[in-house]
Amino acid sequence: MAKPKVFATHPLFGAARQILQEGCDVEYWAKPERPPREEVLRRVKDKEGLICLLTEKINDELLRAAPKLRVAANVAVGFDNIDVAACTKRGVVATNTPGVLDETTADFAWTLLMAVARRLGEGEALARSGNWKGWDLDQLVGTDVWGKTLGIVGFGRIGRAVARRASGFQMKVIYTDAVHARVELERDLQVEFREMNALLAESDFISAHVPLLPETRRLFDAPKFHRMKPTAFLINTSRGPVVDEAALVAALESGKIAGAGLDVYENEPFIHPGLKRANVVLAPHIASASLETRTKMACMAAENVVALFQGQRPANMLNPEVLKR
Ligand code: GLV
Repeated sequence: MAKPKVFATHPLFGAARQILQEGCDVEYWAKPERPPREEVLRRVKDKEGLICLLTEKINDELLRAAPKLRVAANVAVGFDNIDVAACTKRGVVATNTPGVLDETTADFAWTLLMAVARRLGEGEALARSGNWKGWDLDQLVGTDVWGKTLGIVGFGRIGRAVARRASGFQMKVIYTDAVHARVELERDLQVEFREMNALLAESDFISAHVPLLPETRRLFDAPKFHRMKPTAFLINTSRGPVVDEAALVAALESGKIAGAGLDVYENEPFIHPGLKRANVVLAPHIASASLETRTKMACMAAENVVALFQGQRPANMLNPEVLKR
């Protein structure tokens, strides 16, 4: 019997290709640049499976172009690029990669936090410039991290992993979320719940860990920046549109907040020019980018596809109701 045809919009990693090779006939996008939209639409025409990155929109247009599609596997935990309802309507299973990137993403939230607090971007530029004149008492003085208050907005797996790392820095950790964590978990992680406004007013560092949803779009807006301490920093490794970027630039320019560490942007890969300032550390959406974790993400997506074609339930279905019919 012919193997089901799959299009992968990336060559993935060897370990993921190995998972796919036996049961699927996979066409890989192998060029270093991302595939143009027309190319994706053209290649999905005869495919039953799609493995895609978060840069591809899985919407009505794509689903119309892929009448045989049965599964769209995102190599990412965030799935705001997928119109899940449209997939469900057409009986296409959509999957993501939860769980495998929590610790790596939490590491990177801390990387940004430390870098912006201790002015690492500026320091690195000076060290490389050839203009460094040597140690000076008031050179690139930053802000202490240890002993401060960390506010976590969104207390899911990644938010909790960020919280766990704070104890070594003797920090007070507060969090806000639509749901309270269990009392035992709060006790184990030594965290306290706050309403959003209280968290904004109390935190020295605020780290965002919410999914992009209609209710979290532009969650961080001008009134929120107004409530933050002028000495506070915003860290965002979640999704760019969670922050009103123009309002963030205005807050940074007017000194309403002290700085930001950003991995994600409203209109990637465009970065608002007003963010390219000394008190902002910028990264190009790499929070989950360790070889170990990106390999696990690709393998997980591959396993989701293979499971479906073997008549099993993929482990990470976003619309399990499709298989209940
Ligand atoms: C990366 O941003 C992801 O959602 O996995």
